[in-house]
Order: sequence, then structure tokens, then C-alpha cells
Amino acid sequence: MSRAPGFWLRTYGCQMNVLDSEKVANLLHHAGWAAAAAADDADLLLINTCSIRAKAEDRLYSDLGALRAWRDARPGRVLGVAGCVAQQVGDALLARFPQVDFVCGTHHLRHVPAMVEAARGGRRAARTGESASLDRFDLPDRHPDLASATPGRAYVTAMEGCDMFCSFCIVPRTRGREISRPAAEVLREVQDLAGRGVREVTLLGQTVNAYGRPRPGPGDAERVPFARLLGRLAEVPGIARLRYTSPHPIFFDAELVRAHGELPNLCPHVHLPVQSGSDSVLARMRRRHRADAYRHLVDALRRARPDLALTTDLIVGFPGETDAEFRDTLALVRDVGFVDSFSFKYSPRPGTAAAGLGDPVAPERAQARLEELQGLQRGLTLAAHRARVGEVTEVLVEGPSRRGGRQRSGRDPYHRVVNWQPEGPADAEPGALVALRVAEATPHSLIGEPLAGGGAVKLAPRQADEPERIAVSGG
Ligand code: SAH
Ligand code: SF4
Ligand code: F3S
Repeated sequence: MSRAPGFWLRTYGCQMNVLDSEKVANLLHHAGWAAAAAADDADLLLINTCSIRAKAEDRLYSDLGALRAWRDARPGRVLGVAGCVAQQVGDALLARFPQVDFVCGTHHLRHVPAMVEAARGGRRAARTGESASLDRFDLPDRHPDLASATPGRAYVTAMEGCDMFCSFCIVPRTRGREISRPAAEVLREVQDLAGRGVREVTLLGQTVNAYGRPRPGPGDAERVPFARLLGRLAEVPGIARLRYTSPHPIFFDAELVRAHGELPNLCPHVHLPVQSGSDSVLARMRRRHRADAYRHLVDALRRARPDLALTTDLIVGFPGETDAEFRDTLALVRDVGFVDSFSFKYSPRPGTAAAGLGDPVAPERAQARLEELQGLQRGLTLAAHRARVGEVTEVLVEGPSRRGGRQRSGRDPYHRVVNWQPEGPADAEPGALVALRVAEATPHSLIGEPLAGGGAVKLAPRQADEPERIAVSGG
């Protein structure tokens, strides 16, 4: 038997792109392909691109320059471009880069195997039309070989697309209009994952808590509010942790806030992008919320779940941002006390409303603001980490830590990275849930230690119809 052709996926961007690459890997497995050990061994190389800032888009162009040699090195090799830049630029990529065999937009992933076959027959093509249908979610079940790609954890699409059109953001143009999957399909997928040993599910969507809101057109089957979807998923046997990302502040209703106090397996962490603490900047960003509404939402969430950890996204140097407006952002960050934040210098994106605004902030000034903001955040993060020393926390084991050696790494319910030295195989196995004591705080992570006396307490993987068991290992 001849060997299966090999594919290599290079993924940039957010969790949705990571999940899309998993979907493409699954489709290719079903079509008789196997993951290659390295790009050099592959017959197909697909770049799943991100367009959120100019730098992300530019990464594709520099990759494509370097990959000309890869494609020429072996006859029959196929080079494809998928994701948000594919959707944004479309067939112009074929014209500009002769080494590209196919271009597949965000709504056409299920056509990747057919596009690859066509390319092997010498036919170059681009499929980047925007689709308003749910067909894109109609994908084959996970191939058995892919059952443990991310042991213990999985992303699940709840909705895709964005109708918010924040003035700086290209995503409404790369992911199209908002569309929600039927609740029954999301539930079925989560049940299937739980049956395969997945303990933690993160629901994904560009404005994930807009899930289920009435939209014109198709794809409106079986609408339930987001909080109710969470409630149903929380009851799936075996699901120990539920997360969602990214919510938009304006789509929190009382039921969703309450869910944070009522659903024991809804993790006490919300990534809640705010972008700016200044009302005038928020208005120019077309964010549809003011800073005080955001603060009230934070208060309500903390009343429901006092230990809630909050993280956020921030943009500095938005057109016209004054020093006073930037100070409002610093004040909001300090007042809310984010455990962590991702902050970016504004980058103009083609076709967005803000790209036409004048009054740019000088690059050096934007850089200085970014550094000041990140300095403030470092202090807040370290203080939040220090406050947790001594606490017992539960970590989902991901694998070896970046520091190497035997050290393991995982995340706790607050989504903090915890590193520790395992005592035995039970607290080292990816996908396991282990209890650790927080021994030390560092600026980027927590250092854990197995509990004294009995080694790590491990929550044993549970079959769908079994009650929760706790196994004590190592002692
Ligand atoms: N859907 C999420 C954000 C997705 S993009 C939300 O509603 O907030 C991730 C982050 O990238 C954004 O939160 C924003 O902080 C940043 N971002 C988006 N467009 C940007 C741009 N043009 N320049 C700089 N940062 C940007
Ligand atoms: Fe972009 Fe705004 Fe939509 Fe988030 S809500 S994806 S920032 S347009
Ligand atoms: Fe990037 Fe597209 Fe995600 S632009 S951030 S990969 S939705």
C-alpha cells in the first residue's frame, strides 16, 4: 500500500482559527491524508491566516515568499491559503502569488479536500464567497485518530461572524454575518466530546454571547438565549469546565450574569474585551457601550461570582486618542483590576470605518502608551498571582511546561497557567484534572506543588453514566 499523502497546517490568529485548523485536519483525515511530521515531509501545506492587524497579514506574505522553494522542491506539492486573509483578499492572492494553488475563505473549509484534489490536477481556484448558511458547520464526526488532539479540552463553535462593525475591526469582513448553530447540534457535539474524555469545553464565537439572538434570514433554527445554552451544556455528564470567548459587553443579560453564580462548572473567568476606558474613544470606535456601563457589568458579574477573574483586550493609539483619553484607559484598568490583558497598538485595516479617520497618533507616542499600559498590567497581574499563594486549585494538565524537564503545565479554573513538578504519572498525564497548592507567584504564571500527604488528588476520567469519582494517587 502506498503511503497516505501528508499535510501540514500552519495556523495564525485566534482560537477560532485554531478550531478551523482542527476541522480541516479532520476533513483531510477522512479524505485519506495523514498529518506530516514536518513541513518538509508534507505534500500539502495550508496556511490558516489572520488579518486582525497589518502585522498578521504581512506574516502571510513573508511566508509565501519563503515557501516558493518548498513548493518547487518536490513535484505535485500543493500550497493553499485559508482563513481571514483568504476571505479578505480573495482570488487576488492567486494573481499575486503564482506559488499559491488554492485560496479558501472562512466559510468554505469543507471544500478543502476537493480544492486540494483539483490543485493536484493542475486547477488553481479561489472560493471566498460569503455564505449565510449553516452548511459550513455540517462536518464529519471527529476521525478516531484525532480523538485526543487536545487531551481533555476542546473548542466548540457556538456562533460565527460579527454584525457589530466596530470601526477599527476587519472581522465582520472576514467572518461575515452573525450566525448561530442550533442548540441541539452544539449539545450533541459536547456530548460526543465528553464521551471521548473531554472535560473542558470552550464555546467560541466572535460575539459568543450574542448566540441565539433573532437574526433575519436562514440559520435561525431552534433559538435559545446564550445563558440557556450554557445551562444545558453544564448538565452534560463528564463536562467539568465550561468557558466561552469572546463575549461582547452589550450582550450580557441578567440570566447570563446569574449563570456565573449558579452553574458550578462555568469557570470563574471571563475574557471581556473593553478596548478603551474613554467614552469619546469608545464612541469613535463604535463600541456601543460606555465605560461606566462596562464597570456596572463588572460589578454585577462579581456580585454573582465574587472570585471572578477578568481579562480584557485594549487598543492604544486609536486615531485622535489624547493623553487624557489614554489616562481614562489606565484608570479603568486599575479600577477593574484585570488579572491580565492583551493590549495592541491600533493598526488601520482596509475597508474599516476607522481607516478613513484623520489625526493619527504618532507611532512613538502609541508605543510609549503601550509600554505604560503593559507596565501597569504587569503589576496588577503579579499582585493577583501573589494573592493566590497558599490556595488549593485544580489544574487541567496540558503537557510539558515551557521550562522543559519533567515540569508540567496546565490551567486552573481562572485560566491562569500553573507549572509544577509532578510526583507520579497520574498528575502528569495530559487531560487529567489535578489538585495543587499554589506555592509561588511569578509575573506570568503560578508555581504549584502536589498536595502534602497524599500526592495529587486526581479527578478520574468519568464515563458518561458514572458518577464523579475522586482517585487519590501517589500516596
Ligand atoms: N470579538 C472580539 C475581538 C476579536 S479581535 C471582541 O468583540 O472584542 C481581538 C482583539 O484584537 C480585539 O479585541 C482588539 O483589541 C484587537 N484589534 C482588533 N482590530 C484591531 C486593530 N485594527 N488594531 C489593533 N488591534 C485590533
Ligand atoms: Fe471586531 Fe467589534 Fe466584532 Fe469584536 S465585536 S469582532 S472587535 S467588530
Ligand atoms: Fe484573526 Fe480572523 Fe481571528 S482576523 S483574530 S483569525 S477571526
